[in-house]
Amino acid sequence: MPRVIARLRDFVAAPSRGVTLPDGRSAFLVCVHGRIAAFLNRCPHQQVPLNVPEGDFLDAGGELIQCGMHGALFLPESGECVFGPCQGQRLEPLAISINAEDNVILTVE
Ligand code: FES
Repeated sequence: MPRVIARLRDFVAAPSRGVTLPDGRSAFLVCVHGRIAAFLNRCPHQQVPLNVPEGDFLDAGGELIQCGMHGALFLPESGECVFGPCQGQRLEPLAISINAEDNVILTVE
């Protein structure tokens, strides 16, 4: 069953946010250039959450997803690591859509 995991207005104040999925897994959403993407919050390098220790998911420029542990950078379009110890590996994407009420819906669990 599709679940609302965020609202578009959430991204006005901050371009990324962590969420807990209905099954308890940690995930996050980013909004870069108006496009929303969602991934499991698990770095492919050491299988740890990306937002430690700083709490953010994006780099200082707000263009790339960043792992706070060792600084790996990921493309928000694909989750591919383009810099760092897991270069070439990918974040696990989540299928989302946006409904008519501007809710971000998790379409596959
Ligand atoms: S755990 Fe993410 S770069 Fe090392």
